[in-house]
Amino acid sequence: MSNICVLGTGYVGLVTGTCFADMGNNVTCVDIIEEKIAKLKQGILPIYEPGLEEMVERNVHAGRLHFTTSYEEGLDNAEFIFIAVPTPTGANQGAADMRYVEMAARMIAQELDHYAIVINKSTVPVGSGDVVSRVIRNNLKRPEVNFAVVSNPEFLREGNALGDFQRPDRVVLGSSDPEAAQSVARLYLPLRAPILVTDIYTAEMIKYASNAFLATKISFINEIAQICERLGADVKEVAEGMGHDKRIGRAFLDAGLGYGGSCFPKDVRALAHMADEAGLHPQMLHAVMDINHDQRRLVINKLTNILGSLRGCVIGVLGLAFKPNTDDMRESASIDIIRWVTAQGATVRVYDPVATETGRAALEREGINLDMVEFCQTSYDVATGADALVISTEWNEFKSLNMLQVRAAMRRPVLIDGRNIYEATEMNRYGFIYRGIGRGTGPAPTILPPGDTTSILGEAQLLSLEESK
Ligand code: UDX
Repeated sequence: MSNICVLGTGYVGLVTGTCFADMGNNVTCVDIIEEKIAKLKQGILPIYEPGLEEMVERNVHAGRLHFTTSYEEGLDNAEFIFIAVPTPTGANQGAADMRYVEMAARMIAQELDHYAIVINKSTVPVGSGDVVSRVIRNNLKRPEVNFAVVSNPEFLREGNALGDFQRPDRVVLGSSDPEAAQSVARLYLPLRAPILVTDIYTAEMIKYASNAFLATKISFINEIAQICERLGADVKEVAEGMGHDKRIGRAFLDAGLGYGGSCFPKDVRALAHMADEAGLHPQMLHAVMDINHDQRRLVINKLTNILGSLRGCVIGVLGLAFKPNTDDMRESASIDIIRWVTAQGATVRVYDPVATETGRAALEREGINLDMVEFCQTSYDVATGADALVISTEWNEFKSLNMLQVRAAMRRPVLIDGRNIYEATEMNRYGFIYRGIGRGTGPAPTILPPGDTTSILGEAQLLSLEESK
């Protein structure tokens, strides 16, 4: 059992601290936000992550997991100090903002009174390990105290974070102090994962390169999707066919509205910025970002191609979170879609199974006129009176909707499936005018669903007639 302190109770910090406690370690999580810590002490989590609440409760109850706002209390007896604070995109053209990491390093320097290993989990620009060392060294209140710095990037996916922590594909440790790296490796041994020990620069780069590569796969398949759409191929089957090749792999080849979230957009930007600063021009990284931006605009193009002007239209949006199983709204495609649609004079009806409050706050923060946005309780409420529905997050519950009921509630039967969760032929049978991403449009809606008595076809045809005028 080791004594561990985790600085920052955001996604990475809270998951890391709780999982280490669950492995039997004694963990104290520190955050400077008092309200957050007060809530955590009552078992209220600042984030939504499946399974985390139960795990926090179990470990708090077992006396292995503690929360405090006091660095002094957190660092007391800590053998390992994890820095897991945010590194948002700064004001400087995409560079990662190191303010919080440096602040944490300064606080460690103030409180440290014994040897400890400082482990950086925050995604920091290559070379930041040296910055952390320097900040601690220059600010040590007790200069005789020794410490080591290890970089240990995280690869946690939101919504899957506990599984990713407990069954990692690899653990990466970077340090100029091999003994310190070995001590950290011992913390991870019970996970039986490959552990790669390298220098600190390389470890930091592995994180950026991994995220940028995954983002590249997404932008690549999105570009292929556009070509598929034009040439009549189906991108879902193309991805399937490519994915069987072990050298390629099927993962991260789902075409859609592009990547969002707290990592990919920020990390690709930061890596491109680092390369730019180094006098290089990373063409591929810039293309990845451009494609990702354009991908969201496809929804607007598809809507206007079918509806003409969006002024006065009601557009239903299913899903706000940047991906399913999270309430995280950071860089979510839904924000851009709602911004653009409302800017064209449409009103929006939205529903997300989890991201309602975070969604409202994010839209407000982005300056979107909330008078134009109605938050609904169900998908069917969203569909009521809508001129089009846009699937922007692939939540499971959207995959099993009663599409007849959805269709019947709508004013016009237009379905833009931004995540390719439906099949065109089936949706056409329900009378929808259906557009996926990179999949062609399917046959015209000519077959009535069995047993349906509503005049689905009539209205769908009417719409296309109206629009062709
Ligand atoms: C990611 C990395 O996976 C993780 O290793 C890192 O530590 C943090 O960033 P996360 O942002 O939680 O995790 O989500 P992820 O599941 O990787 O998805 C990122 C984005 O890519 C989402 O917006 C998702 O919708 C999109 N995506 C993913 C696609 O558009 N297509 C795909 O095939 C896969």
